[in-house]
Amino acid sequence: MVALYKVPKLSDFSPQALDRHVAELLAAVEAEAAAVKTSDTRKAFRDRWLARKGGILTQVNEWLRSAPKDIKPEVGRRVNQLKLEVEKRVEFKAQQVGKAAPESSIDISLPGIRRPIGAEHPITRTMEEIVQVFARLGYSLVEGPIVESDYYNFEALNFPLDHPARDTQDTLFLANQEGKPARERLLLRTHTSPVQIRTMEKVGPPLRILAAGKVHRNDPPDASHSPMFHQIEGLAVDSDITFGDLKGTLDHAMKALFGSQVKTSFRPSFFPFTEPSAEMFVSCFICGGTGRRGEEPCRPCKRTGWIEILGCGMVDPNVFEFVKQRGYDPEKISAFAFGMGVDRIAMLKFGLDDLQLFFQGDLRFLEQFK
Ligand code: DAH
Repeated sequence: MVALYKVPKLSDFSPQALDRHVAELLAAVEAEAAAVKTSDTRKAFRDRWLARKGGILTQVNEWLRSAPKDIKPEVGRRVNQLKLEVEKRVEFKAQQVGKAAPESSIDISLPGIRRPIGAEHPITRTMEEIVQVFARLGYSLVEGPIVESDYYNFEALNFPLDHPARDTQDTLFLANQEGKPARERLLLRTHTSPVQIRTMEKVGPPLRILAAGKVHRNDPPDASHSPMFHQIEGLAVDSDITFGDLKGTLDHAMKALFGSQVKTSFRPSFFPFTEPSAEMFVSCFICGGTGRRGEEPCRPCKRTGWIEILGCGMVDPNVFEFVKQRGYDPEKISAFAFGMGVDRIAMLKFGLDDLQLFFQGDLRFLEQFK
């Protein structure tokens, strides 16, 4: 324990006496500072010396006040000097020991604030991968609204008014649309195909676009269904696009996505907006097209050796009638289009058997994609 310094009252104001008092005070602050080891005692030390009310430096003002008038300037000079010296020492101690106030103290030995780095969602990643394959073929990415009108989702894509796809069984309509004319009724788009029309309204031919995003259907969730899922749509319009272009483009894209060993197969199908229409299959890259995995049947391809990947076809001339004034004359141009489900492709690529895993937000699942 250091004996605590007390500010003496001065009666002798000779330079020698002043020098001695100053020296004593500085020796005292040194000695007390040396004893300060913790931030608590540092605070007491600081208050003792610097507090405005009753601190030692405040008390030292008394020296000035009590000094005879003619030597006040001399005393004042020394007192000021002394204050600077004391402040310097207290400040030095503060840095050595750390700030006194606990709320501002920094303990560098504590672990820092961790901000967990997220991972790209497997669906986003798959989508990006598909987009990149087509970007290299000159396709640009366009966007369209998720809340869509009946006109873009159905009518301009050549769906007849009584087509079953318009039924509320499949389509989620917004509430209170009954008063509107059919084509203006709002719904959650059931596919990304309306972006075809929206883009052709804005940009004349030739065109090579991709539209990626969320779509909705009134399907209860299970291992292979979800009321919300993701599609990628493609459209290529030019003066002489053929079914051969469609096959070549998609065959290349599937090899880029699933490996050069996969084969593609096209089977006739029907979509209102394409004629002819097809479903494209890729040879199962899980069982190598054999339909078996050792003794077990291959589940992803249901033993067939083929996996259905997308719908496609040559754009029906009726669709161009809706954008004819923008330069899409069915006599002069032709086009192919395709649409694929991203979620299913992601499931196949990552070997998952439950679609719901993508949407449950379970970190134990999502963290595996870091
Ligand atoms: N829109 C279709 C669907 O959701 C997929 C599709 C099929 C898109 C053929 C196309 C196409 O562009 O040509 O099932």
